[in-house]
Amino acid sequence: MPLISDFDLSAHNTLALRARSRFGALLDTPEAVPALFEEAEAKGLAVRLLGSGSNVVLSPEFDGVTALMTIAGRAILSEDETGVLIEVAAGEIWHDLVAWTVGQGLGGLENLAGIPGTAGAAPVQNIGAYGAEVADGFESLLAYDRVAGDMRRLTRPEMAFGYRDSLLKQQPGRFVVVSLRLRLSRPWQPNLRFAGLAELAGSAGLTPLQVMDRVVGLRQSKLPDWRTHPNAGSFFKNPIVEEAEAAPVLAEFPGAPAFAQPGGLVKLSAGWLIEQSGLKGFTLGPVGISARHALVVVNHGGGSADDIRALAAHVRATVVARFGVTLHEEPVFL
Ligand code: EPU
Repeated sequence: MPLISDFDLSAHNTLALRARSRFGALLDTPEAVPALFEEAEAKGLAVRLLGSGSNVVLSPEFDGVTALMTIAGRAILSEDETGVLIEVAAGEIWHDLVAWTVGQGLGGLENLAGIPGTAGAAPVQNIGAYGAEVADGFESLLAYDRVAGDMRRLTRPEMAFGYRDSLLKQQPGRFVVVSLRLRLSRPWQPNLRFAGLAELAGSAGLTPLQVMDRVVGLRQSKLPDWRTHPNAGSFFKNPIVEEAEAAPVLAEFPGAPAFAQPGGLVKLSAGWLIEQSGLKGFTLGPVGISARHALVVVNHGGGSADDIRALAAHVRATVVARFGVTLHEEPVFL
């Protein structure tokens, strides 16, 4: 396996952080995955994996191999009146997969249109938007298990999906996703519960394409584009807290966004808490909170992982002081 020396990752992370790796490698076939780990072990090199780099904060230097997942391919495996089973390779771009299914009139993934990143990364943090998440239609995935040293198929129950969480996120670095299988149910049931989509309900002849177009439009109207304003999407998870922790917030702001969760818990909106703490548009050195959406951290130019850490610490401290609620970061620091 050819290793690339002094690999520049600046164009491989959507926060546009300047980052280099001692070596780089392209994983473009399933066989390349075990081959890379064998070679790295023989040479005593650490390996870390990157998809599109849309949910990571990269340190300036990495003394090992950064492997880019680029395995391509997608196919319909089977279909009948109850649904369609599709398989997609880990290196495919998630949005292109969504557009490919929707383009064939197949519904199920349209609410997840426009999310940056690769298909292989999607189940790791169980990407979600507009009332849907990748776990909904998840059937199984094929991954290289670095502990066992072989390929393993993980099914939905084994994945232990949660809000922005899965087995793969809980055991970082252990599994390298090679491909996933998703089931698109028939007949198509549009998921229009989320504000912004609800007005499509009842439209005669509604298609998955119309829903996808609306989702893409909503995202463009709300979220800064990483191509012009480098960012990693939502930087904090929406905090899920005990009722007692949410009570003071709701007593002061009865209209604050809050969603009941199983077990008497309440999901608050991190974007709302950050905005109410006066931090929307706040900048700290070269990085800051987006003026468009308070949940998004933007690199205005030349920022580093340490700048991002300092900003995140300031946001966490300010929100705790104001509301007594602790925020947790969504991206992975590598
Ligand atoms: N809000 C504010 N100020 C802001 C932004 C939002 O007050 O600056 C309020 C909104 O008014 C709304 C609430 O916060 O009442 C929720 O905002 P929004 O609908 O934009 O969704 P979100 O909870 O901030 C989540 C996901 C997004 C996903 C959207 C849409 C998380 C951490 N984020 O954001 O996912 O696109 O819902 O479904 O769950 C991502 O994970 O990277 C991501 C972008």
